[in-house]
Amino acid sequence: MAAVIVLAGVLGAGLFGSEAIAAELDAATRTIKANEAGDTVTLPVEDFLRGRKKFNVACATCHVAGITKTNPNVGLDTESLEGAFPARDNLAALVDYLHNPTTYDGLVEISELHPSTKSSDIFPKMRNLTRMISKQFRLTF
Ligand code: HEC
Repeated sequence: MAAVIVLAGVLGAGLFGSEAIAAELDAATRTIKANEAGDTVTLPVEDFLRGRKKFNVACATCHVAGITKTNPNVGLDTESLEGAFPARDNLAALVDYLHNPTTYDGLVEISELHPSTKSSDIFPKMRNLTRMISKQFRLTF
């Protein structure tokens, strides 16, 4: 479940900023796009909340409340994620991003500039997450 957890954090940040409270996390809120085909998955509350914690540790330095401090043009809100190439508005595409982060247009690989499973030497906070994300890559929807 680890990637789901981390990515729930991403989506949580995009959807609610850092103010979400458990009471707001009803099933509809926790139901997200699983893949590009539009299948959906409902994340357990616990994963959602743990994801937010992980997100705050590894991602929030740059993406506080779902914006990108170091590149304000590329946010983590649903619209920005939808508009990326490939679209990053679903779980599978976000997992892919954390393995192979790219520029918004998908043309340039940026794992030396962006935390990823292959750049945990540069981004030590990814070490812990890398193990989890790699293990969990076999997502079943
Ligand atoms: C050092 C700053 C930094 C950190 C830390 C960081 N990011 Fe990013 N992130 C960026 C920048 C800058 C971009 C925009 C890259 C581009 O398009 O050129 C970005 C883009 C993204 C995108 C694509 C957004 C879109 O609309 O296409 C996702 C998804 C993302 N980051 C997730 C994460 C996650 C998850 C973490 C934590 C594991 C994380 N980021 C940590 C700086 C960071």
